[in-house]
Amino acid sequence: MANNYLVTGGAGFIGSVLCKSLIADGNSVVVIDNLSTGYRENVPKEAQFIEGFCEDEKVLQPLLGFKFDAIFHIAGQSSGEISYDNPVLDMQANVQSTLTLMKFAIETGCEKFIYASSMSVYGDPLSLPVNEEMETQPKSFYAVGKLASEHYLRIYRQFGIKTVALRLFNVYGEGQNLNNLRQGMASIYLAQALKTGKILVKGSADRFRDFIHVSEVVAAFRKAEDESIPSGIYNVCRGEKVHVAEILEVINNNLEEPAEVTFVDGTPGDQFGVVGDSRHFEKVFGIKSKISFAQGMSAMIAWAKKQ
Ligand SMILES: NC(=O)c1ccc[n+]([C@@H]2O[C@H](COP(=O)([O-])OP(=O)(O)OC[C@H]3O[C@@H](n4cnc5c(N)ncnc54)[C@H](O)[C@@H]3O)[C@@H](O)[C@H]2O)c1
Repeated sequence: MANNYLVTGGAGFIGSVLCKSLIADGNSVVVIDNLSTGYRENVPKEAQFIEGFCEDEKVLQPLLGFKFDAIFHIAGQSSGEISYDNPVLDMQANVQSTLTLMKFAIETGCEKFIYASSMSVYGDPLSLPVNEEMETQPKSFYAVGKLASEHYLRIYRQFGIKTVALRLFNVYGEGQNLNNLRQGMASIYLAQALKTGKILVKGSADRFRDFIHVSEVVAAFRKAEDESIPSGIYNVCRGEKVHVAEILEVINNNLEEPAEVTFVDGTPGDQFGVVGDSRHFEKVFGIKSKISFAQGMSAMIAWAKKQ
């Protein structure tokens, strides 16, 4: 059955892949995006596009007559590092937007709200892997905003709406913005290597992350809408530790000329190492990540070389 969806951030990396998947299945999609990091050409032509800030009620006004089957709130300022440049702007994009859209959802009778949260809410955890029951200790303004949004979602459930927060770990893959050198660890290194033949690493090679391919993240967003998935918070990750040194190795192994690597001090709020426990997500969603980092990254490098 064809449904109607609102996707915020549909001009960005994850949002645009989600829009394509929804449209491929015959659904109608409305996108709101302010094009701060996204591109108009990323939005599929079949989608209705509204350029604007999703924390602005005026932008939502023309949609008050719509009844969406679900709202996917993907838009946001997506970099911990950038959140330090302007914490107020970060709060507006990542917190105020959630509240404005939740209010809109309730007013228009939308029954499902699915949110792009982040593993950054865990900060530097005392033990690994991190599961959804563990204490959160956000280290950046960005992470505080993501955690605040999760709590707003929880509180809004009392009005009868289903809310799902997906704590995305490090998402990468074809279509990632290679012009944004402040968001996306693997994509930043890759973009630098291809453009300059050099990679500047901010922080140590011992840091590690849990990478998950964008196609598997989009599968999680699609499944989150299903009746079988209860409201809650879910880690979306592989549970595989990938060190910075390994990212650099995979990139250099896939280049004709290996890039020269230089290390400098880390950025404020950067987490040292996080790897997730995906068991709760796997059990409830019935999805297990199959794409290893080396596999997915090789495909991404092949795509990036053609850009
Ligand atoms: N990429 C990752 O590894 C990752 C990890 C955890 C969480 N997330 C979250 O997933 C979401 C999507 O990330 P992405 O990697 O696709 O980033 P992205 O920057 O490519 O996409 C974000 C999109 O939101 C738009 N946008 C930003 N602020 C907006 C606003 N106030 N109103 C309307 N549109 C706005 C941007 O123009 C962009 O198109 C973000 O909320 C991010 O915080 C991403």
